[in-house]
Amino acid sequence: MNADLVTAPAPVPATSHLERVAAHACQLRPARVADAAQIHELIAAHLEEGHLLPRRLAELLVHAPRFVVAVHGDRVVGGAELAPLSRSVAEVRSLVVHRDARHDGVGQRLVQELVRRARLDGFDRLCAFTHGPGFFARIGFSIVPHHWVPEKIAVDCQGCAAFRTCGQHAVVLTLQRQPARA
Ligand SMILES: CC(C)(COP(=O)(O)OP(=O)(O)OC[C@H]1O[C@@H](n2cnc3c(N)ncnc32)[C@H](O)[C@@H]1OP(=O)(O)O)[C@@H](O)C(=O)NCCC(=O)NCCS
Repeated sequence: MNADLVTAPAPVPATSHLERVAAHACQLRPARVADAAQIHELIAAHLEEGHLLPRRLAELLVHAPRFVVAVHGDRVVGGAELAPLSRSVAEVRSLVVHRDARHDGVGQRLVQELVRRARLDGFDRLCAFTHGPGFFARIGFSIVPHHWVPEKIAVDCQGCAAFRTCGQHAVVLTLQRQPARA
């Protein structure tokens, strides 16, 4: 084989949009309906890696206010949803941070913001279903048996083809209510 004819594969860019984003340059804010398309794109791009549930754009347009997003300028580089499962239990759902903004605390800040919101909204427990329980353990969540979160099983798991075989860990954080202001 003529080595001159062998061309190296083109390098795959880490991202099509961004250079490395410093965490301090990212701001967290409540998501707006106008962010739904970018949130959708971010989730869709990390479905496999994050074992994320696919989300439809129409659903995200409705539920955008439940999300907190990390933004760098006008780009959404991370997001997570506070999804109520019952009056007392909420779930961290669709947590994702763009690769170029990772390892700098943005994911942790997103979850901490959902914890704050969940407390304010009066939830007793916040849960997540994840293949990466270590990330949540660092924030104070505990790994629990799935049946400790029957709300999740009723809402999502029972109708799922991977019920009992999904390999996800249930993690839960017990929330302390915010003291009422005098
Ligand atoms: C998980 C994720 C949101 C973390 O975002 P991040 O901004 O890098 O998070 P932080 O900087 O706050 O924390 C990073 C730390 O979390 C831990 N962590 C991250 N991903 C992890 C995983 N899959 N399993 C276990 N621990 C993990 C590591 O300790 C990591 O430390 P390091 O930076 O020294 O490697 C991001 O990696 C991501 O979007 N992954 C793809 C989607 C996904 O897995 N979502 C979670 C579904 S529940």
